[in-house]
Amino acid sequence: MTDLLSLVRGCTFDDFLFAPQYSIVERRDPAAIDLSARLSEHLTLQRPVVSANMDTITRAEMAIAVAEEGGIGIIDRGFRVGDIEPQVREVEKVKRRQHGIIADPYTISPTAPLDEASERMRRTGIGTLVVVDGQRKLQGLITTRDLRFVSPGPGDTVASRMTPLERLVLREAPISSTDAEEVMRTWKVKKLPLVDRDGRLVGLITAKDLLKQRQLPFATRDEQGRLRVGAAIGAKGDYLERAAELLRAGADVIVIDIAHGHSVVMARAVEAFRKRFDGAELIAGNVATAEGVRFLLERGVNGIKVGIGPGGGCTTRINTNFGVPQVEALVACRAAAGGRVPLIADGGVKRDGAVVQALLFGGDTVMLGSFFAGTAETPGDTVQKPVVLPESHRTVNVPFKVFRGMASLQAIVDRLDLEDSEAADVEALGAEGMEISVPARGSVRPIVRDLLKHLTSAISYGGAGSLAELQDMFRRDPLRYVIRLSAAGRRESFER
Ligand code: XMP
Repeated sequence: MTDLLSLVRGCTFDDFLFAPQYSIVERRDPAAIDLSARLSEHLTLQRPVVSANMDTITRAEMAIAVAEEGGIGIIDRGFRVGDIEPQVREVEKVKRRQHGIIADPYTISPTAPLDEASERMRRTGIGTLVVVDGQRKLQGLITTRDLRFVSPGPGDTVASRMTPLERLVLREAPISSTDAEEVMRTWKVKKLPLVDRDGRLVGLITAKDLLKQRQLPFATRDEQGRLRVGAAIGAKGDYLERAAELLRAGADVIVIDIAHGHSVVMARAVEAFRKRFDGAELIAGNVATAEGVRFLLERGVNGIKVGIGPGGGCTTRINTNFGVPQVEALVACRAAAGGRVPLIADGGVKRDGAVVQALLFGGDTVMLGSFFAGTAETPGDTVQKPVVLPESHRTVNVPFKVFRGMASLQAIVDRLDLEDSEAADVEALGAEGMEISVPARGSVRPIVRDLLKHLTSAISYGGAGSLAELQDMFRRDPLRYVIRLSAAGRRESFER
């Protein structure tokens, strides 16, 4: 290991290639190759991909897409300080999205005004509300279709437009997904409310969820069939209260994410977290040194996030000159962790090939931020910007989205809800991130799938039959693989 560490000192992804090995894989179908990886001590993913907790990358939509593809998203904490509810709502959206059974569907009273139903549908993005009375007894269902072309009068209530109980197909819980499918097929319904013996609502099954469950064999799910999601918190202020609410909403893992995780602030935060939420799965970071890893391990975290300064939206190294090139950081941190808890390789991945490097040099999983920037699932509006075409010199409007570091001035100002004049004070503290516009580029799903195809090819080139096997072979004899590139080698490899 010492040899590898000296070989990678001062180096990062573009400094290396791997030597091809005798291949034992005949098919390169990602579905046929085991790409599973540990996110943290008690959580395993079928695909080693994590979307970064950044406010221009991961909210519910991204977390859903990545979890459905087999990875996981970490909802950022970039919401206003003291305002916990919006982050909790994002976690709820993921947990409610794809269930075998929605255990706690959104409900409304039959006496509520129709306006309230439309408003709740708009706010939650959910098109069906279950209508229940004060005793939670099922009364009906109301959907966006029931409200289409309706201009509600002042006295119009949910009861006037809902499908009433006597016209609903419903079943008593529990019911298996096969039986639920059978009922939905026979009665041609898309929603199946479940009740107890007294007619009280206990869940809702939707055809979409049942179909999705079949189509997404690698999706990251909890024991109840719900998608898994993580959520980030800080290490000061409302962080414990935030964690409590996020866990209550169903977050599967909490990530204490601060710029410098090897710090007294982190020590206090992990200790307080452990005292209050003993059994909760906890990942902490970021660190980039062996000492940083040992420090977090001693405090009982279940996973560690590695990376100081490699991020695409990050200016820490430029502004402070501190940081560790990501490959060196991964090798050093891996050696210190000794496989006791999994590591997330966080930051610096700009091409698919760097993913396999991140996973071999030290990461169990890889966290991606700028790699996903501009995709449809990222939060934020798409804006049209005029761009001059190089060949014709014609000006065309091109759609762009904003990507920014979480320590960028704009992200801090938004988080703290400051006026422009107060922002100047924050500026004096020094930002460690930047904001850029990136071209909008469609869904993240084909990007994840391509990445996984390339990872599968890399496993074949590496002479292994699965990701875990390749990691094992690499870690037993890394020098058999690692080629350090000359400047010309780098040009030949990566410049096109
Ligand atoms: P990529 O390269 O995938 O990296 O965009 C994502 C990671 O970058 C980190 N990050 C920052 N680091 N200042 C920093 O020093 C920032 O403003 C900033 N914003 C994000 C973070 O670890 C993320 O997961």
